[in-house]
Amino acid sequence: KTYKVGYLVGSLAKGSINRLLAKALTRLAPPGLELAEIPIRDLPLYSYDYDADYPPVARAFKQAIAEVDAVLFVTPEYNRSIPGALKNAIDWASRPWGKNSFSRKPSAVIGTSPGSIGTAVAQQQLRGVLCFCNSPLMNTLEAYIQFHPGLISEDGTVTNESTAEFLTNYMKELHVFIERVLAVLPREA
Ligand code: FNR
Repeated sequence: KTYKVGYLVGSLAKGSINRLLAKALTRLAPPGLELAEIPIRDLPLYSYDYDADYPPVARAFKQAIAEVDAVLFVTPEYNRSIPGALKNAIDWASRPWGKNSFSRKPSAVIGTSPGSIGTAVAQQQLRGVLCFCNSPLMNTLEAYIQFHPGLISEDGTVTNESTAEFLTNYMKELHVFIERVLAVLPREA
């Protein structure tokens, strides 16, 4: 069976190394996973004033999450935390009250930064947020990728063999995780 995985990139930068990582993960994913980006760029800043009538862009965003089997967060760390744009997107998805898009939706977290911590602090905080949003989180593997120039080429090829192997295994584990979660928490039709 093929599962659809929607990925959210936590960076809005044109040259985002995390978008590059997402491209690499798309290439390394096993045949059973189909990856596509769910864009967050055009979402306005959330307020509950929108709850009564979500704008089309936010409706489309929630619909995109509803249509995938799992969500993969590929995020940078900004000031030891979750980038504002990503947190904003999560807030949109979590509302209106009672219509939380992440509830029972499997998710996983990964990220890269030039620093040796490799987004660990941001990922830890993101995990807390996703737990609160009732998303079953992949815990088996953690992936803190230290980025070096050239680690991933523009077409998404990982140039370092052991990193490529690690990321391939990460995607394999993600497939197993999604299969297991959906066996006990099947998606409503
Ligand atoms: C950073 N950067 C950074 N790196 C890190 O490892 N820990 C951190 O807390 C921060 N803080 C931070 C704040 C802000 C506002 C910026 C712009 C950058 C560096 C960051 O890892 C680097 O810019 C990456 O290129 C960000 O990933 P994207 O946006 O290119 O995917």
